[in-house]
Amino acid sequence: MQKSYFDRKVEYFMQPVPAEVERRTRAIVEAAGLAGGSRVLDVATGVGVLIPHILERGVKAGNLMGCDLSEQMLAGARARYPGVFFWLGDFLDFPRSLGPFDAIFFNACFGNFFDQRSVIDTAVHLADRGGRIVISHPMGSGFVAALHKSEPEIVPHLLPAEDKLSEWARDFRLQLETFRDEPDLYLAILRKSPQ
Ligand SMILES: C[S@@+](CC[C@H](N)C(=O)[O-])C[C@H]1O[C@@H](n2cnc3c(N)ncnc32)[C@H](O)[C@@H]1O
Repeated sequence: MQKSYFDRKVEYFMQPVPAEVERRTRAIVEAAGLAGGSRVLDVATGVGVLIPHILERGVKAGNLMGCDLSEQMLAGARARYPGVFFWLGDFLDFPRSLGPFDAIFFNACFGNFFDQRSVIDTAVHLADRGGRIVISHPMGSGFVAALHKSEPEIVPHLLPAEDKLSEWARDFRLQLETFRDEPDLYLAILRKSPQ
């Protein structure tokens, strides 16, 4: 259902992002503390909205991968960023051999996952020691709640509240480094132990 929905919506997502949203998207990427040598995975990359901001932080295109299950969304991303490797499929099937990553982004997609806990489990396997798992939305958790209400089959869940993130942090030995749930910005950063 996700795949056919987003395959049909690609033209909408190819439109330019409003400047205010772009500014908050840049702030989300900045918060991940990327360095020149960072290896980065953009999960549910869509048409690659996060990618210019990741490249702007000095990450090399060859160290950046995107994953999405919509062929049409990935076709848009591939046309825009030919130097980046894109993997087509469900994130839960993303090959562990393509890791580890210093940062794994989930921007504007986390409410779409049917089994959020398994998504975190997969991300923990793919993250390097000290790596960050960044869950974000530049329109905020209220926007996702409205989508959840209007299209529950496409957005089956809300963005995780702080107590849910703390539960995952405890269960997967992560540190909840950042949590911001503001009217127009949601940002949670979970960090894997450096040991
Ligand atoms: C609203 S778009 C967001 C795209 C992008 N992250 C952004 O910031 O604009 C949600 C994307 O999630 C993808 N998606 C949904 N479930 C997925 C899954 N299980 N594995 C990989 N991608 C998924 C959809 O195909 C779609 O491209």
